[in-house]
Amino acid sequence: MRVTVIGTGYLGAVHAACMADIGHEVLGVDIDVEKITALGEGRVPIHEPGLQEILGRTVASGRLRFSTSLSEAAEFGDVHFVCVSTPQRRDGLSCDLRAVDAVVDGLAPRLRGRCLIVGKSTVPAGTTARLAARVQELAPEGTNVEVAWNPEFLREGYAVQDTLRPERLVVGVMSQRADQILREVYAPMLSDGVPYISTDPATAELVKGAANSFLATKISFINAMAEVCDATGADVTTLADALGYDSRIGRRFLSAGLGFGGGCLPKDIRAFTARADELGVGGAVSFLHEIDEINSRQRQRTVDIARDMVGGGFVGRRIAVLGATFKPDSDDVRDSPALAVAGAIHREGADVRLHDPEGMDNARAVLPMLDYVHDVKKACLGVDLILHLTEWADYRRIDPAALAVVTPARKILDARNALDASLWRSAGWTLRALGRPTAPALPSQQAAVDQVTSVDLGCGPG
Ligand code: UDX
Repeated sequence: MRVTVIGTGYLGAVHAACMADIGHEVLGVDIDVEKITALGEGRVPIHEPGLQEILGRTVASGRLRFSTSLSEAAEFGDVHFVCVSTPQRRDGLSCDLRAVDAVVDGLAPRLRGRCLIVGKSTVPAGTTARLAARVQELAPEGTNVEVAWNPEFLREGYAVQDTLRPERLVVGVMSQRADQILREVYAPMLSDGVPYISTDPATAELVKGAANSFLATKISFINAMAEVCDATGADVTTLADALGYDSRIGRRFLSAGLGFGGGCLPKDIRAFTARADELGVGGAVSFLHEIDEINSRQRQRTVDIARDMVGGGFVGRRIAVLGATFKPDSDDVRDSPALAVAGAIHREGADVRLHDPEGMDNARAVLPMLDYVHDVKKACLGVDLILHLTEWADYRRIDPAALAVVTPARKILDARNALDASLWRSAGWTLRALGRPTAPALPSQQAAVDQVTSVDLGCGPG
């Protein structure tokens, strides 16, 4: 099949490479000449594990090419995937659809014969229907152009895996023919048994917003519990483990800490509520405002605990910040909780030394006034406090005893609950975390817990 992928940002670059990898002839299109040149030479402009190999392979095979021309795209494709970004508008809530509209307006008048336009970007409910009407107006006479929506659920850091082996495929179509074309596009996944949900466009559009709202709710729920844990001396990680064993709840997305960020979750829940407001059902999802609030509160709580750990104020304090990206295995700092905290403590007078394995350049572009240090040990040299804000595996491998030599203050705030607290404490560190007791459980208490958990409570049926 001849497939175009319009928009070669994060989503589009991965989609284009993966479509070529499963055997389609693919043309990637973007207005950014620099990006198109790099991709055409098989160079990946973003950090995404596995993408470099797959791009190199498919470009070398000749199945994947890149262009800046929409006319070439119109000429080439049977299926046109629209993967441009739908950022948050200046109102801080609704979704900016100008890039999607521009692609449709540019592509439709150039189309010939039969083809299918498939949106993948996250959009408000009703977008497919609106674009379908627009395409009917713009497409030349004698063409047969349909519009469908096929939301993408990929996670940064796992984008290639999520595209080639998705947990499900959701397509919103207006005809059997569109459904058939998409089944052909995804035939290798379908023969691997990936669930395929074919529905109307409005439902498909909503699935994405609803899924991200649910994930955000799970994270904010456990973060709310973390605050309650702090007030009672309970441990939120054990609480999450215990909740997670209930298969109706599940352990994933119950990691308490600094909260969610990135280019999707925060923006998507705001756009979802904005669209619900427009539709007159804002009241039904008003709880999402609270989810957003709880999330912001984690950043403030982290700043408050850090301030407390350095004696009540940041002026004159040297602080090492470990982590800048919104999550590990990514160089993305969009709405990064780590950067928000780093910026806030700098504004309060802290001398911030920041380290991140992949996100330093992007972080520097947002917060140029911080001190960027390429070595963890150097970043921590003589600081009053270390803030662990993004849970990179590298940081879990730090030897606390070795680090103590360069950091005599021996204070660390683990805002991601990802470090081995007992290891750090036994090396003489004061370690605080969100939703976890400040001191470890006494061995005698732990023994009592072990004993209780090993006893058969005898709660048989009836
Ligand atoms: C998310 C969705 O997972 C994905 O399906 C959608 O297509 C795009 O948005 P992504 O933004 O890549 O993907 O990141 P994700 O792994 O979902 O993490 C989002 C944020 O939540 C990160 O900041 C992460 O640190 C935070 N998070 C995640 C938690 O704080 N706790 C958790 O338990 C899980």
